[in-house]
Amino acid sequence: MKQVIITGSSRGIGLATAKLLLQNEEVKVIGTSTSGESSINHPNFKCFQLDLSSKNSIIDFIGKLNHKKIDFIINNAAILLENNSTSTINISQLRKTFEVNVFGTIELTEALLSQTNSGGHIINITSSWGAFSETDFTQYQPHYKMSKATLNMYTKLLAKRLESNAIKVSSLDPGWTQTDMGGFDANRKPNDAAMDIISLLTDNVDSGFFWHRGKIRNW
Ligand SMILES: NC(=O)c1ccc[n+]([C@@H]2O[C@H](COP(=O)([O-])OP(=O)(O)OC[C@H]3O[C@@H](n4cnc5c(N)ncnc54)[C@H](OP(=O)(O)O)[C@@H]3O)[C@@H](O)[C@H]2O)c1
Repeated sequence: MKQVIITGSSRGIGLATAKLLLQNEEVKVIGTSTSGESSINHPNFKCFQLDLSSKNSIIDFIGKLNHKKIDFIINNAAILLENNSTSTINISQLRKTFEVNVFGTIELTEALLSQTNSGGHIINITSSWGAFSETDFTQYQPHYKMSKATLNMYTKLLAKRLESNAIKVSSLDPGWTQTDMGGFDANRKPNDAAMDIISLLTDNVDSGFFWHRGKIRNW
């Protein structure tokens, strides 16, 4: 049995990934939502409450895992607070964005490392909006973009640190996807992104890279 944690499994890409993973009888999924509720009813699925902006919530969540060994961590939960035309920095919004997308995500990951099995894989869902190489670069969504760029650097740092533990760390850019965050005009479905995530888990990829649609992309 492989044990997978997916943060933010209540909606969008996280929900699609949980459903797809659960088609494999050899996989158990622990999902999270801010309410603790989930629409998934499956014997190999549990959902716990997790608010990544709250240290206490992260501690409670870790406690509920009861030292269970984990194979895969999908750091999927994130927030995008800006509207499309925001280019100025709002410090309070920047802080809120970093609390969830960066500090909470990193705090959770660090707390889970001691119970992550050798041969494990941590996937940080980031974005083309967190890439320095992005060709369509604009000044908009600055808080979100900075948060995802930071998470990409965390991927590289952690991948190096965990080389000797045989735990892989990857960033994955799902592309513009039809979710509450991506909106309905997006050209990808949550299931497309979910299939990319599962391919990354099952293919024998190198650690420390940034993936998009099955290929390594530039940071
Ligand atoms: N959609 C896109 O076009 C796109 C493009 C590039 C990258 N991404 C990335 O893909 C990932 C999934 O995005 P999505 O489009 O599926 O987003 P989404 O539909 O907005 O879902 C976000 C998920 O994150 C959870 N979440 C929100 N705030 C949280 C908090 N404070 N603590 C813990 N969990 C929290 C939500 O839980 P609740 O339901 O409980 O609120 C929900 O499950 C994100 O990392 C996003 O940045 C998305």
